[in-house]
Amino acid sequence: MSKLPLVFVTRQIPETGIAYLSGRARIEVWEHKEPPPYQELVAKTQNSDGLLCLLTDRIDRQLIESSPHLKVISQMAVGYDNIDIVAATEKKIPVGNTPGVLTEATADLTWALLLAAARRIPEAQKYVKDGLWKTWEPTLLLGADLTEATLGIVGLGRIGQAVARRAVGFNMRVLYYGRTRKPEIENSLGVEFRQFDSLLAESDFVTVHAPLTSETKFMFSYKQFQRMKETSIFINTSRGLLVDSEALYRALCERQIAYAALDVTVPEPLTSQSKLLSLPNLIIVPHIGSASYKTRSKMALMAAVNLIAGLNQERLPNCVNPDVYN
Ligand code: DGY
Repeated sequence: MSKLPLVFVTRQIPETGIAYLSGRARIEVWEHKEPPPYQELVAKTQNSDGLLCLLTDRIDRQLIESSPHLKVISQMAVGYDNIDIVAATEKKIPVGNTPGVLTEATADLTWALLLAAARRIPEAQKYVKDGLWKTWEPTLLLGADLTEATLGIVGLGRIGQAVARRAVGFNMRVLYYGRTRKPEIENSLGVEFRQFDSLLAESDFVTVHAPLTSETKFMFSYKQFQRMKETSIFINTSRGLLVDSEALYRALCERQIAYAALDVTVPEPLTSQSKLLSLPNLIIVPHIGSASYKTRSKMALMAAVNLIAGLNQERLPNCVNPDVYN
């Protein structure tokens, strides 16, 4: 009987993923809380037939080219900007990801942040915990209204659309900007297309749902924040590098915009010394967009299914570089 292929899983993942891999592969899991250091990742991958990785792992050309047995890379995330896709495609290594299953959870978190920023929930909680709550006050902790406000969505992919659907309950006007217009979705969701600058100028809330590419990197810089309303609220649950953090810091200090909430930052993790943490009008959470029990279980299973398909020389159910099959 031939030996099962060896896979390296770069962190502990939900049981659904491990259960699927068991009996189909020999599994080596990186048991630590922190990601494997780069050299360790290279060494482990060099001996492996398959790699199940996370967005915190740098899967670059050097790693790919120095792994002679590697047949498949399966990322447990929808985003894959940490992987050198060109290098993987050149070596005919399919790369898998986990789209779809995390759409709703990420849209939920976007709304959680939007509501928390609009109604200043972290400030209000601190106020109570600090013992400052003495009476009901007519002008205490006033925030922004959502009802009938304008929501600007940058990137109307799966997550952007799920965010738009949730806006219906708040009776909001929804604008979107994206590389391509989507007339069918405009009709079905009742959203209106705007050029980027117009969307920034018209929106009360701006939320970004674009992948990180060379075109989207730093698409929010000081100029963009200047175009936004002084009362506006900015949300980012996509990738930190879409935003120039220094520009965001300045815009929030100068009140070019009123408030921001981020699930993603540069760097990740932020150090406790980051000056962003000193801002009273900025909420930051630690990249938890997809962090619901069901979603992470589905992501782990989907990543495992992609991995085994690749090891069996079958087409990956979710492949980001289908050119490998040409
Ligand atoms: C992703 O999948 O790309 C998210 O950032 C983490 O779930």
